[in-house]
Amino acid sequence: MNIKGKKVTLRAIEKEDLELLQYWSNDPEINYMLGGWHFPSSKQDQEKWFQGLSVNGNHQRFAIDTDELGLIGMANLVEINWKDRNAFHGMLLGDSNIRGKGYGVDTVMAINRYAFEELGLMRMDTTIIANNAPSIGVYTKKCGWIIEGIKKNHYFRKNQWIDQLIIGITRDDYFSLIDENKYWDHD
Ligand SMILES: CC(C)(COP(=O)(O)OP(=O)(O)OC[C@H]1O[C@@H](n2cnc3c(N)ncnc32)[C@H](O)[C@@H]1OP(=O)(O)O)[C@@H](O)C(=O)NCCC(=O)NCCS
Repeated sequence: MNIKGKKVTLRAIEKEDLELLQYWSNDPEINYMLGGWHFPSSKQDQEKWFQGLSVNGNHQRFAIDTDELGLIGMANLVEINWKDRNAFHGMLLGDSNIRGKGYGVDTVMAINRYAFEELGLMRMDTTIIANNAPSIGVYTKKCGWIIEGIKKNHYFRKNQWIDQLIIGITRDDYFSLIDENKYWDHD
């Protein structure tokens, strides 16, 4: 079942998406905003990664799609722990021209709703590189996530050491948020 936000749909990743995903995965501008890192990734690497995506109840990866623009990014819900009811989440929007238009907030809100209202999770976690102001804004100002800790000098980028923010949201945080901001009203 696809996951609907107000602007975005989170759907399965298809073979046709791979070219764009490989382009984003090698884009330095995007990578400097992400916590993970990798060496340049080939078409074959991408295809192998795609083959390994087969249905896995503990690790889910979604294409972020819109009616107007098609594929705009990727979101995940991984390390789903069905006993303790938590999971790790991450996302990226590929094209810098479409940032600042609410797609990031809508994607995180769709993941929030899916995690808490469909999967019945208790909490989600993510990490953010401390100089990623847009991401910190989306998660902590708009989507109910809270900075729970800081790891000093966790990342090395452009010859500088940068902190890692540990961010999380519980189901109570989510339900308080939508009570307050009425995000899904008139959905
Ligand atoms: C981070 C990212 C997901 C944000 O998505 P987006 O669609 O651009 O953001 P939205 O338009 O939905 O949200 C706008 C809100 O984000 C925050 N924000 C955006 N840019 C900001 C900035 N430069 N400084 C502070 N807050 C900012 C604000 O709260 C803003 O709301 P406001 O305009 O009402 O003040 C997107 O820029 C992205 O994918 N970047 C590249 C990869 C990445 O950083 N992924 C996240 C890794 S943790």
